[in-house]
Amino acid sequence: MSTIIILAIESSCDDTAAAVLKDGEILSNVVASQAVHQQYGGVVPEVASRAHQENILPVVEMALRNAGISKKELSAIAFTKGPGLIGSLLVGASFAKAMALSLDIPLLEVHHMQAHVLAHFAEAPKPALPFLCLTVSGGHTQIVLVKNHLEMEVLGQTIDDAAGEAFDKTGKMLGLDYPAGPLIDKLAQTGQPVFQFPEPQVPDLNFSFSGLKTSILYFIRKETKENPNFIHENLADICASVQDRIVKILLKKLKLAVRQTGIKEIAIAGGVSANSGLRNGLEALGKKEGWKTYIPNFEYCTDNAAMIAVTGYYKYLNGEFAGQDTAPVARMPF
Ligand code: KG4
Ligand code: ZN
Repeated sequence: MSTIIILAIESSCDDTAAAVLKDGEILSNVVASQAVHQQYGGVVPEVASRAHQENILPVVEMALRNAGISKKELSAIAFTKGPGLIGSLLVGASFAKAMALSLDIPLLEVHHMQAHVLAHFAEAPKPALPFLCLTVSGGHTQIVLVKNHLEMEVLGQTIDDAAGEAFDKTGKMLGLDYPAGPLIDKLAQTGQPVFQFPEPQVPDLNFSFSGLKTSILYFIRKETKENPNFIHENLADICASVQDRIVKILLKKLKLAVRQTGIKEIAIAGGVSANSGLRNGLEALGKKEGWKTYIPNFEYCTDNAAMIAVTGYYKYLNGEFAGQDTAPVARMPF
């Protein structure tokens, strides 16, 4: 078979990313993060779209340069169709469409959450099919049954906030910069989980994090009333306690999913899979339960275009191309 070289573009939220993949191997993976949102304590969609517009050309050029690939060598262009912020998605989709049209090569549309799962195929070790993937990001929390590369079923998901949102909203209450997940993770490493937060009672394989958010809010309100310096004096322990609860919620459902399906190939994906508590917790639980666990490299946890390229590659092999009439979908079903 002839060589397949794919350029992939990811612009679903606040990271502008591009990657190049040659015959299944990642040659380059470039991400421009938008620090501009920190001052607002969250992603401002309008600001994100403008930043994507500024970043996209230099990011794509750098991905091609780092890969040592010229535009003329490309076989296809993959892009994130959804889910995500519509203004952000439109920038990536329009760029991909224009470039594919000008080079007269096919387009590949990619589902962002499927791509998070397939980030596991960007490098070895790759999970054996079928496997279970806990995908935890800023917008989603899902347990996915991966039957094959392009056939996946969501077995359970959050009924309100996502795990990443639980981290970010806790950070906001503690006065930490957005996104607070990585900072809470760092602070938690120097603290102890001494504060107890309740476990949500949600049936099946679904998750809920909004009750936890409320209980953290009431806890902080009550404690700071008695001691205005409470947060400052207990920051590491608060972070460790919140993280401990979030990780326990996630791992408990994963254990239930293994019991229900009998599948013991277990992966985690998405931004929250960068969390050290979750990574260590999964590894320990996996050892105890006899699971084979897969934890992605940090660069493939948070939003990146390598995962879009990998998904595009499988679609290419399957002949699943998109037409020039394709358009992004903000709330794209799985
Ligand atoms: O997958 P991602 O980059 O973007 C979305 O598709 O949402 O995930 C971003 C989320 C944010 O909520 C961020 O706080 C969280 O991932 N995150 C973490 C860590 N690194 C990123 N949460 C906890 N611990 C981390 N180390
Ligand atoms: Zn994501």
